[in-house]
Amino acid sequence: MSLPDANLPYSFTDATHEVTITDPRTPSPWINYLSNGTLHAFVSQAGGGLLWWKSAYSMRLTRYRHVVSPMDGPGFYLWIKDIDGQVWSPSWRPAMTELEDFSCTHRPGSTTFRATKGNLTAILHLWIADDNAMVWELDLEGQDSEVDVFAMVEISQMDWSSEANWGYYCRHMHQVKNNPEVGGPVYFSHHGHHFRLKEIPLMALTTDGQFDSFDGSRDEFYGPYGSENLPAALTQGRCSNSELTSGEPCLAGHRRITLKGGTGHAKFFLHLEPNTLADFPGTLQAAVDRAARLRDPHWLASQKVKSEEWWRSRIEAFRTDYPDVDIARMANTWGSLQCIQTGRYSRAVSASAPGVRGVGFRDTAQDMVSVATMDPGWARETLLLLLRHQYQDGHALHYLYPNDPLPPVTSVHCDNHLWLPFAAYAITAESGDPTWLSQKVPYYDGEGEGVTVLEHLRQALRFTDGNLGSHGLPLIYRSDWNDIIGKFSQEGRGESVMAAMQYVVAAGKVQELCGFVGESSDEIEAGIAKMRQAIEQHCWDGEWWIRAFDDDGHPIGSAKNEFGKIWLNSQTWSVLAEVGTREQQIQAMDSVHRLLGTEVGLRKLAPGFATYPHVTDAFSGYGPGCGENGAVFCHAHAWAVMAEAQLGRPDQAWKLYRQLVPHLALQKVGLKRYSSEPYAFVSNIVGPESIHFGWANVSQITGAATWMHVALTQDLLGVKARLGGLQFSPVLEAGVTGYSVERVFRGEKHRFTV
Ligand code: NOJ
Repeated sequence: MSLPDANLPYSFTDATHEVTITDPRTPSPWINYLSNGTLHAFVSQAGGGLLWWKSAYSMRLTRYRHVVSPMDGPGFYLWIKDIDGQVWSPSWRPAMTELEDFSCTHRPGSTTFRATKGNLTAILHLWIADDNAMVWELDLEGQDSEVDVFAMVEISQMDWSSEANWGYYCRHMHQVKNNPEVGGPVYFSHHGHHFRLKEIPLMALTTDGQFDSFDGSRDEFYGPYGSENLPAALTQGRCSNSELTSGEPCLAGHRRITLKGGTGHAKFFLHLEPNTLADFPGTLQAAVDRAARLRDPHWLASQKVKSEEWWRSRIEAFRTDYPDVDIARMANTWGSLQCIQTGRYSRAVSASAPGVRGVGFRDTAQDMVSVATMDPGWARETLLLLLRHQYQDGHALHYLYPNDPLPPVTSVHCDNHLWLPFAAYAITAESGDPTWLSQKVPYYDGEGEGVTVLEHLRQALRFTDGNLGSHGLPLIYRSDWNDIIGKFSQEGRGESVMAAMQYVVAAGKVQELCGFVGESSDEIEAGIAKMRQAIEQHCWDGEWWIRAFDDDGHPIGSAKNEFGKIWLNSQTWSVLAEVGTREQQIQAMDSVHRLLGTEVGLRKLAPGFATYPHVTDAFSGYGPGCGENGAVFCHAHAWAVMAEAQLGRPDQAWKLYRQLVPHLALQKVGLKRYSSEPYAFVSNIVGPESIHFGWANVSQITGAATWMHVALTQDLLGVKARLGGLQFSPVLEAGVTGYSVERVFRGEKHRFTV
């Protein structure tokens, strides 16, 4: 059961996959993502948020304060001026007027605010229609006869970093005009410095009635030194009908709504037409047509059904009636929902990440392991994209920008390519169809049609086979999974124990795939045996496995060291790779609990490096207990859940899973200190060596999403997709006598019962 805590400002409604936040003053923005696959937004519990089209790097349509205070704005702003002249917002911000009643409900694909002030209740529902529009549906209930409603978004210059540098010139390239045919203010840009000039979309704010006034100039809307709480337009009671040929654009529209029979309604549509400058008249006409479609209630209703069905079908691919509500909730809603978000956004965009990071090769390859269970077609397309970014020698590049003509990040890492087999296996197992493994895909630096998917995977293993150090372990290069491990290999001779273990698991998956299509895997078997032997011969430290060798062959992660004596990943991966004896694996995991355990999860290493090797050459820049240097690292913690499940230690495994359930961790740490959403995993929780112990940060976009979901649904609840079909091997915890799982697999729903 959930711990009872009446003081927490949120509650869950599991049947409808919802969380409802009842106090908008959360310690950090608690967001939800809305999307149709190309038009995306995140929105916070207080109405802050960002809208972007395809790429949050180059097509950031609205603005969001990622680095400056006050936090969490601008966003999808709506002010109400009621009959008494009171100004308030259903999302509390931006007006920040005290409300009699407030709630924000996030659910897959939509967010609803409900607030009451005096005699009036407002319900604002936000979602994104397939028809390239963000839809704001406002319902009013109350005694007022008329209210004024103002909807507004600030428009950005699309490329955030360029805007920071050059915005003061480029603002003369933006225009907003009122367009009666479209039905509201229309923004377009001749942003000559933008590297995707021709694709910059035209944006319009329209409504299902008529605007009484509008603004295209943000500064006219707010007034000089005006505030978001009470913009000039609200003081005046109407917008200034400002158009803009240079300056800071916004799209603002005001309507006076008459309530009939105690209710009033308005819809606002923030919609876009791509490629404005390629065909301006055509684009304008498309905006006119789209606005007309969106105003048609039947069309809009069908769009809503489509959107809801998209989210529902993915989220409900897995369902359990597990008797512990916190577990069932994560499995049935929030775990899979977050996997969709990381599948879409990799590690790039959230209330704390500004969107410039593109697609991380290793990150997205791992994300596809969970996406495959909900939407194997999507996972397959993404993996094919990644394979097109693998080099002929087998290694892969590090970051790519599939939605932008930007150069990828090409640094060499010893692990990127080794994640491919994990995703390929999950995708093949999900569909049961081996034919795609013979599909040809070009190499990044190759010519012609390339080689088969399976050959790409074999080549990934060969890269590692051919790039071993003096102990026979993979050379680290820039890093392994751990971004900063390259610190120990600046001269290129450092070796990674984790990558060696990862290789063993990855190679095992390729071997199985070879068997599935009847190809020989002798070469792979030899590689596995060699790697296993190197690990077993060189990497046991006495009570745990070391983590790496540095350039000079010194062990990293050894009891002999002053800092970073023990690292989590080489212990967990020794179990996942089944290297060493079972006694060693158990001893390694026992050392993990003893030396890395905290009440809210496992630290990535301990003790945190104060200095390495001199004060002037800090290990990572992270203070002890922070980030990569000894925080509770949730992504790595997930592998410990899996390791304990695979070792057959259910109590340990379930305890570890529960430690990171966001709602439970928040309760343990306390709302203010924990800070992040109670419904999404974070990248890391600051460890006990820091004064900020318990602060959960980098929420939403983390590899913890996929691996915690895999750990729960596959390793604990026990439903695993295998090449031969579904396997059910539950790991039962004490006190649980039975449960069942429904899993959609290869087009059919299967039911398992304990
Ligand atoms: C976050 C990075 O996005 C990811 O690629 C990396 O594996 C982890 N940090 C651990 O260093």
